[in-house]
Amino acid sequence: MITGINGLLGQNLVQEYGHDHEIFGLDLNPGIFEDLDHIHVKQMDLNNTNALGEHINQVRPGKIIHTAAYTNVDRAEDDHEIAFAVNAEVPKYIANICLDLDIPLVHISTDYVFSGDSGPYAESDQCDARGKYAESKLAGETVVLESGAKAAVIRPNVMYGHGKHLSSSFVEWLVNELKNERSVRIVDDQYNNPTYARRLAWVTRLVLDQKAWGIWHFGSKEVVSRYTFALKIADTFGLSSALINAISTVDLNQKAPRPLRSGLICEKLNKELGVPILSIDEELALLKEEMDVA
Ligand SMILES: NC(=O)c1ccc[n+]([C@@H]2O[C@H](COP(=O)([O-])OP(=O)(O)OC[C@H]3O[C@@H](n4cnc5c(N)ncnc54)[C@H](OP(=O)(O)O)[C@@H]3O)[C@@H](O)[C@H]2O)c1
Repeated sequence: MITGINGLLGQNLVQEYGHDHEIFGLDLNPGIFEDLDHIHVKQMDLNNTNALGEHINQVRPGKIIHTAAYTNVDRAEDDHEIAFAVNAEVPKYIANICLDLDIPLVHISTDYVFSGDSGPYAESDQCDARGKYAESKLAGETVVLESGAKAAVIRPNVMYGHGKHLSSSFVEWLVNELKNERSVRIVDDQYNNPTYARRLAWVTRLVLDQKAWGIWHFGSKEVVSRYTFALKIADTFGLSSALINAISTVDLNQKAPRPLRSGLICEKLNKELGVPILSIDEELALLKEEMDVA
């Protein structure tokens, strides 16, 4: 069962599991997947925990991958009750059902659980969430880890990838802007090691297959500024970088704080599960291949 099946990671999980699994997807709005023999999508607000519980009990999935979240970081500053309901109460409910029914669970979290003052961060580093979205996501992963369910928490940062009708993929947005010769302003003071969604879907499957419960970080090999990432994207897709302008985070005047020195150390995933950690250029080349085929 995949929650948030229409989202960036949800769609990539369908790519990962679609050929050899029956998939039950849940999402807020009618989506992109038709009801096929092996993919069944139900429209549901996960806050309706009675309906959610009933559905999980009925389907009895072999595993649950919980990607759905309230992801509007700035709006969460005002809508914090909704953000906490979706990002903390829903995972708590899902984890408790998983414990009762003995269903393995992967919960997707974020680098925002850290302050972003002194990254990159390892799984063992102290969390210090700043802002309501960050606090709600930290509360969500904490209840999952403390639930006693067979659960893994995977933290990506700045996720990108390919999918249909998405607002959440930075690379697809930038490629589209540059192709249409629109100039863009990209922050040069936010550092992280972006996560390629297609490989995150593969890592998620590996973690479940290996029953590797606990916390895992996944991103690319090097930590770069968002501006450097944008230049790499332009280069990979053969687009001119002349329209990419560097700005500072303060210029954006955003409501919620952003982690400036973030990034996720992925050594644990590499050493314990043998996951190759690739460079940004290698992963962008894989994405380009994926987009050329689509
Ligand atoms: N994207 C990133 O850069 C990034 C970075 C770090 C961590 N993450 C985490 O990674 C996970 C997946 O992110 P993503 O980029 O794939 O997100 P996404 O593209 O926004 O997909 C999330 C999906 O969940 C749905 N959803 C939201 N609230 C729901 C609710 N109450 N009931 C049912 N469905 C609901 C959304 O529907 P609507 O679109 O209709 O609202 C959307 O289809 C999230 O947990 C996020 O916190 C993302």
